[in-house]
Formats: sequence, structure tokens, C-alpha cells
Amino acid sequence: SASSNKTIMTRNIYQRIEDGDYQVVIFWGSQSGTAERFAEVLGRECSTRFGINAMVADLSDYDAESISEIQKPYFAIFILSTYGEGDPSDNAVGLWDWIKRIKDQSTKLENLQYLALGLGNSNYKYYNRVLDVVVDAFDAAGATALIPAQRADDAVGATEEDFQSWKDEVFSLLRERGYEQKTATYQATLNVWLRPNSERHSDVSQQVSISHQQSTTCSTIYPLPIRSSRELFTAGDRNCIHMELELGNNDILYKTGDHVGIWPCNPDEEIERLLKVLGLKERRNDALDITVLDDSAKPKVPRGNTLESALRHHLEICALVSRKTILNLSQFAPTPSAKAILSEIGQDRELYAQLASSTHITLARLLQLASPVDPWTSLPLSFIIENLLALQPRYYSISSSSIVSPRCISITALVVNKVIDSETPESIQGLTSNYILSASKLQSKASLPTPSFQHTASPTLGSTLYAHVRKSKFKLPLTSSTPLILVAAGTGFAPFRAFLSERAKLHTIGKPIGRMILFFGCRNPDSDYIYREELGKLQDTLGEALKIVTAFSRDQAKKVYVQDRVSEYGNDLLEMLDSGANMYICGKASMAREVDGKIEDAVKRIKGLEQSGVKVWVDDLKRRGKWRADVWG
Ligand code: 2AM
Repeated sequence: SASSNKTIMTRNIYQRIEDGDYQVVIFWGSQSGTAERFAEVLGRECSTRFGINAMVADLSDYDAESISEIQKPYFAIFILSTYGEGDPSDNAVGLWDWIKRIKDQSTKLENLQYLALGLGNSNYKYYNRVLDVVVDAFDAAGATALIPAQRADDAVGATEEDFQSWKDEVFSLLRERGYEQKTATYQATLNVWLRPNSERHSDVSQQVSISHQQSTTCSTIYPLPIRSSRELFTAGDRNCIHMELELGNNDILYKTGDHVGIWPCNPDEEIERLLKVLGLKERRNDALDITVLDDSAKPKVPRGNTLESALRHHLEICALVSRKTILNLSQFAPTPSAKAILSEIGQDRELYAQLASSTHITLARLLQLASPVDPWTSLPLSFIIENLLALQPRYYSISSSSIVSPRCISITALVVNKVIDSETPESIQGLTSNYILSASKLQSKASLPTPSFQHTASPTLGSTLYAHVRKSKFKLPLTSSTPLILVAAGTGFAPFRAFLSERAKLHTIGKPIGRMILFFGCRNPDSDYIYREELGKLQDTLGEALKIVTAFSRDQAKKVYVQDRVSEYGNDLLEMLDSGANMYICGKASMAREVDGKIEDAVKRIKGLEQSGVKVWVDDLKRRGKWRADVWG
């Protein structure tokens, strides 16, 4: 159409807003796609809930200067991610340069009204730096923040939740500004299951994959048969499971270093609790009919589910309830005291934070806490569907090599049964890892420890797990003679088991193998040194080519961590990096950060560089894919 031709032609955002009759622009700065997805969700909901014509814009499609022309009644929304060393996403580089110029040239932006959300991870040093820099520059230039900028923190797994609560604030602002909010997105009703047919809802894979956003990085989801599972160690409240899943003749292809997404089921206990507090125990087998009122919204629960199967397979009923949801729930309270309790928690940021950190406050637990006796019969199911997120897969680094074991992938899962609240010792920690433990207990019928909760109703549990493979950039170099530096703590060793076994295999078929140094950290050589025997065999096979350096944190009075050992080997590591080695770090983000710091120290010391020179050196390695990390919160 004519207007879309214009879209391509103008790089001036203000002109584009006027031409397209938009009321608001939502800019996204995204690398991995989360900020982009949020911008799209927000744009869609602005339209479906408020009838607002919102434009979702890739920052790189417009000249950043033209942002300064945006003026009332229009306003701009920014959703910006921060990466690595406080860097913006590639598509936000133009914005970034302009922000610097605003500061240098004391540009005025008094007409600009904006809202901003930053996505970051507080395990990194420059947490949400991109957001902070942009907001500071805007504020100094006289722009108006319509609501204070907010940060979403991936370190505590709260990105989604923080986005939801920020979005709620954006919506209240829209209401204050006179926009009328339309009805909800989902309308849910229960119907007596007319043709009870267990076949009909037993195929979870099909149901699950509907809610799974298909993408080029993820394979199809399949129920993968569990070939075997065994315990690597049990120590107090921590167990580690090694499980092998067969790919059979499905179309999944994986490569060493990829991730596997495991689709968990919710535990019986939590499902029962929710059914009970809602007063719907008797209606568990009714068909759940959901009408999606907003046709651009995803069906969270596919057709053909019963209430129970929806709660088991499709909704995150074990997630922490947001404060905003608590406030909204209070209107449906069955008793005045329940209403008072929810209002109190919902209005008090600190009280909420305290509750959330001392106990894992799921929806059902919250409802039960507020009203221990009376069920919440006036709470609409639609509200529940609306407020619970669709169930997400949990990712694990694959611990097998695609060359050694092309049709069978292994995972190495740590299960922590940490009880956070001693008064109500029913914590829901590690939904998926406990699910894996349940499955492996059934599968191996071995004397594994008891998972913190039971998963029963799934007919296939113990024989299959629903899973898909996600491509990663954590890849071995193409040539086997490239030297490797591997740094891992705990289950961070998983992908290195794959790397090393692949190299050992290549060695046995006569390929030249580059020098490898593995730093491995755990608590104690006799408790949680995973794959110790296997590693011994790999050492025998690889001989001189492999050096193993261990760090035991609880084996002696003073803690020794992998980063301490990395420090000791500074000279060797630098020499290896200079001669073309690839370095890989896998484990907790806090560990990776400290390892980075030690290497940087060594570069500074040995090469006599300033901090800025060190950064250039490190960035160059990272850009060339010679320095990679696979880390989690
Ligand atoms: P800990 O005794 O202090 O728990 C696997 O969990 C290993 O990683 C353990 O030895 C653990 O030590 C260690 N670890 C925990 N935090 C770490 C960090 N920030 N850096 C390096 N290792 C860490």
C-alpha cells in the first residue's frame, strides 16, 4: 500500500507517527528478542485493550535525532536491553550515539514525554546501564518521564514478572489519561466433558507445542524416551541426575554445546491446592473452553483440555504471584478479612518482598493464606487464565557430544530441595529439576532421593519427557587442533563433558588435538565431583593434551574457587589465548564474572595494558567467538 511505501521512505519517526495516525511509538532495543517481544505484546495490548494505535519500532529503522521532534499529545516508549559490559543491542547503536551527542551538546528535549523499561541482569556489573544512561540524558535534557523508568532483572528470573507489572503501570497511566480499558483478553468457562476420552488429552506434545513459539533456533517438541538415568551424587539437600534421552528417528538434530528445553508438569500438590481454594475439585474433568477475545493474543491453553490438564501442563501455577495481581485479586475475596489481607500485601512493597523471600508464594498458597476456610468461588476462571503465564520450558546444557552420541542426548541436572520457609516446609524450588528427579526415580526404580513433590497423573512420566533442542553459540572450534580453555563450577561442567568426550573420540580416530586445560570447581572431591571417573578415563585417553585443574571450595579451611586457580595460571592462559585458544566459561553468572575479572587482571599485568586496552583486547576475542560464556542467574 501507499502508506507502507512511505514507511520505507521516512527515517523520521515523528513524521512516521503523524503519517500513520499513530498515538504512541514503542521503540525496542533487543539482541536476543525479549525486548522486541515485549514491545510487540505492549503494542498489541494498547490496541486491543484501549483502542490505541501504537507503533512498534525497531530503533535501527529511524534516525535517533528525530525522536527529539516527538511532542504532545504523542509520547514515546522505550524497551531497552543491556548486554555484557553495559552495551546496547546492535539495533540501538544509533540511539546510543545520539544520547552521547545530547549530553555533549546540551540538547534540549523539553517536548519529549516518554516511558522506559530496561532489561538486564543484576549478576552483571553494568546492570541496566543502557536504560540508566538514556534516562539520565533525557532527564538532563528536560524530557518528562510519565512514570519512573523501571528495570527488569533476569538474575532473579523476574524479567517476565517485572514486565507485567510495568505494563500494568503503563495501563493505569493510559486510564488516567482518559483511555477506556476494554474487556479482558480471555473468557473461560467450564463445560461438563461431554465425551470423556482420555486419548483426547493425553497427547501433551501437541498441546504443548501450540503454546510454544516456533522459531528457527528451536526444534519441534517431542516426547523423548528416557533411555537411562542415574544419580551422580546426593549431598544433603542437593542431588545431581544424569539422564539420557533418545532422539530415535524424529527430526531433531543437535550439535555439541546446544541446549535442551524440558517441558515440566506442575506437581499434584499444587494442582490440588489450587482446585481446592477455587472450590473446583469436583469439576477438574470438565472441559475448559477458552474464548480468546483479542484475536491477536496467543491461546494460552489449547482446546481439548480439562481444567486439571490445563493446570498441569499449560499454566505456570507454581510461579510467584505479582504484587499487582494480589491487589487485583482482592476484589474477588470471599471474606472481608481475606480482602483486607490481600490489600495489605498488595499495597506494601516491603511486606510483599518479605513474604516473597521467606516463602514461595504461589497463587494457590496466597489464596489459601488469605482465606484458609472459604473457597474463592467468585474468582473468575478468566482472571486466572489472564494472570498466570503460559508454562515455559526450562533449558539445560546438553552434556553429550553429537559426534559420540548423535541420537541420544544427556542432561546433567542439579536438584536443590531447599526449604525456604521452616514453618511451611513445602517449597516449590526447581519445578523442572524436581520433575526430572521424579521421572528418573520412576524410570530407574532406583533408590533415588524423594523429590520435593509428586508428579503422578501424567501417564507417560517415567518413560518420556517432552523436550526440544535449542541451538546455541557455545560451540567447539571447527579445527580439533585449536587449544581450549574450559572453566566450570558445579553442573557448569555439563557442556564440557560433551566437549572433552568429542575431543577424545577425535583423538582415537587420529585427529590432531589441541592442548586443553579444564578448570573444574566443586565443594569437595568426595561429594560433588561429578563425572570424576569418566574424567579419569578421558585423561587416560587424551594424556598430555588434557590438563585438569581442580578447585575445592569446602575441602579445606580456606575456600578455593576456579577463579583462584585461573589466576594462578594467568601466564599459561594468556599464552594459550595469544596462540589462538578458545575459552569457554560455564556455570553461575557470579562465577563467570569473577573469572573474567581474573583474566583481565592477568592481561593488564602481563601485557602492561590500561583498563581500556584490556577491554579492547577482550572485546576482540569475544567478537571473534574465541571467548564464550554459557551462564545462568
Ligand atoms: P561454595 O562452597 O561456596 O558453594 C559448585 O557449586 C561450586 O561452585 C562450589 O564449589 C561452590 O562453592 C562454587 N561457587 C559458588 N559461588 C561461586 C563463585 N561466585 N565463584 C566461583 N565458584 C563459586
